[in-house]
Amino acid sequence: MARILYLINLVVLFLGFNLHRALSWRNQSYMNDIADRCAPSPHPLSMCQSRAAAFGYPCEEYKVTTEDGYILSLKRIPHGPHDSNTSTEMRPPVLLFHGLMVDGATWVMSTPKQSLGFILADNGFDVWIANSRGTNSSRNHTSLSTKDPAYWEWSWDELASYDLPAVLQFAYDHTGEKIHYIGHSLGTLMILAAFSEHKLLDVVRSAVLLCPIAYLSRTKSKLLKLAAHIFLAETVHWLGFHEFNPVGPVAHEVLSQICGDPEINCYDLFSAVAGPDCCLNTSTFCAFLEHAPQSTSVRNLVHLSQLVRNGGVSRFDYGNAKNNMKHYNQPRPPPYNLSSIPNHVPIFLTHGGEDYLGDVPDTRHLLRTLVKKHNSDSIEVIYVPDYAHADFIMAYNAPELIYGPMVDFFKRH
Ligand SMILES: *[C@@H]1O[C@H](CO)[C@@H](O)[C@H](O)[C@H]1NC(C)=O
Ligand SMILES: *[C@@H]1O[C@H](CO)[C@@H](O)[C@H](O)[C@H]1NC(C)=O
Ligand SMILES: *[C@@H]1O[C@H](CO)[C@@H](O)[C@H](O)[C@H]1NC(C)=O
Ligand SMILES: *[C@@H]1O[C@H](CO)[C@@H](O)[C@H](O)[C@H]1NC(C)=O
Ligand SMILES: *[C@@H]1O[C@H](CO)[C@@H](O)[C@H](O)[C@H]1NC(C)=O
Ligand SMILES: *[C@@H]1O[C@H](CO)[C@@H](O)[C@H](O)[C@H]1NC(C)=O
Repeated sequence: MARILYLINLVVLFLGFNLHRALSWRNQSYMNDIADRCAPSPHPLSMCQSRAAAFGYPCEEYKVTTEDGYILSLKRIPHGPHDSNTSTEMRPPVLLFHGLMVDGATWVMSTPKQSLGFILADNGFDVWIANSRGTNSSRNHTSLSTKDPAYWEWSWDELASYDLPAVLQFAYDHTGEKIHYIGHSLGTLMILAAFSEHKLLDVVRSAVLLCPIAYLSRTKSKLLKLAAHIFLAETVHWLGFHEFNPVGPVAHEVLSQICGDPEINCYDLFSAVAGPDCCLNTSTFCAFLEHAPQSTSVRNLVHLSQLVRNGGVSRFDYGNAKNNMKHYNQPRPPPYNLSSIPNHVPIFLTHGGEDYLGDVPDTRHLLRTLVKKHNSDSIEVIYVPDYAHADFIMAYNAPELIYGPMVDFFKRH
């Protein structure tokens, strides 16, 4: 029983779902058969087939190849189900980028009235949905297979410098319009990193940051700190595994270590990691489980652990001056200077009081960095006291609290 909890908890590690609701997901016999990597799902279908089609939305899929050879699946909901307007001229494009260990399906997990992806289509937007490298629909590469260690040699540095520009540029070229960007969690870190280097400003019209993650060192989550400690103490060991499949053996090993710590209550990792979500609907959560969790690279987790430990936001640290010299021509990894983000970029930022990942002290620090010099009519901040990490993409009351004001923001910018 304990093992089941450990594994399910890893799924929630960066998301913050209620553990008890997850229990019906898998039973002991599944967990004993850990070699069965692919979770049996009642709907092993792509997002377009399982979610969009079910509600009558058109859904297209494009393949986008990054400069470093990863072939990404980019989905598009060009308009709502009842909108016969074929012209895309009037439809501002918006691109949604998901967080860690999930994929683009997270944007359409609930009913049309409650899912951001559908709400935007219904409000006249041309909705593009990214799927980062390593996730289920984006595992092809021009020369590598996911079995090659080299396939997994990336962290969010590469998501920011390859995946993000590839999909934004594709949508821009396709529509001829600048793109409204929406990121959740890790999807916010990517755009902040790119903006800090003054990249993508010519293709992005505005940026929405749903529970931004940038600074992570002030988190209250003991578990996150311990996970970071475990990854960093044995970085070389972990990097030997390459892929991090949340229901695979590497995850199992991390969790055995985490749960061996008497201070961590592995039966309630939900509050230990991400804080209590307030407003998730069970049916939404079940749809989520059909599409999650998704793989990422071990290196990505090590890089995130470096954020938890180091306080700043820098490129991947190769661990010693010699290796950093080889990659960066300097002994320390170059920092992303978030205060150099141009002050005219329209930014809509929203965060929650119960979120241990996009936690309040770290987000305040980010806001001090960003807002200090930002043009006041170019930035809007919404704070929801009882929201945790997952509420921003799946809460049943997010449409009124967040998505409505967001659509208004897009109309103004
Ligand atoms: C556990 O799952 C297996 C196969 O997936 C099924 O045969 C078995 O009945 C399940 N057990 C319980 C207690 O639900
Ligand atoms: C991943 O894709 C396979 C088919 O390629 C499918 O069977 C499986 O259910 C998918 N898993 C998730 C979590 O989407
Ligand atoms: C179709 O487009 C026209 C403008 O081109 C707009 O006035 C009308 O509301 C649109 N219809 C729907 C259902 O969105
Ligand atoms: C993967 O991409 C290559 C081209 O780089 C292509 O030949 C191959 O068919 C693709 N595989 C799948 C499963 O789409
Ligand atoms: C970061 O950018 C700001 C604004 O451009 C600049 O004043 C500051 O010196 C930069 N900091 C570093 C460490 O480069
Ligand atoms: C939860 O979802 C179901 C079906 O999608 C819906 O009928 C119900 O109203 C939702 N509950 C809340 C509180 O929104």
